Amino acid sequence: MKREIMSGRTIKTIILALSATLVVVGCAGMASRVPPVDEAQVAAAESKGLNRTTLERGRVIYLRDCGRCHTPVSVSTYDEQGWREILPKMYEKAYLSSQESADLGAYVLTVSRLQDRR
Ligand code: HEC
Repeated sequence: MKREIMSGRTIKTIILALSATLVVVGCAGMASRVPPVDEAQVAAAESKGLNRTTLERGRVIYLRDCGRCHTPVSVSTYDEQGWREILPKMYEKAYLSSQESADLGAYVLTVSRLQDRR
């Protein structure tokens, strides 16, 4: 019987497969922590006189600035009330302009209100 020893190529293939899996899992994790803008969010925002662009900008700011000092906190961690207390502190920490703060707040509060309803 031939003895099978892992060749360098096999090992490389395994490492590639493992890292591809990690990337996929990592992105899925981010999407559930900071969910992409969807139709339910847009409908909820529109009922408050906001729009999709505001939510999209808010999410981009979240991804850009809210993971600089700590892992981006999952939006589902807090309910609307919780976020209303925390966000102003974090706007300051992230040096957001008032426009950026408004966009980010619109996104986070819209997502958390939808969650609270579930
Ligand atoms: C400059 C660094 C920094 C940035 C940028 C930052 N944070 Fe924080 N964050 C902290 C620190 C430090 C704490 C620890 C608790 C505190 O100081 O209130 C924290 C705590 C938190 C908490 C837990 C709050 C609590 O009171 O338990 C949440 C949620 C949070 N941050 C969300 C955010 C969001 C959303 C953003 C983007 C607007 C953000 N952070 C940007 C430094 C930062």
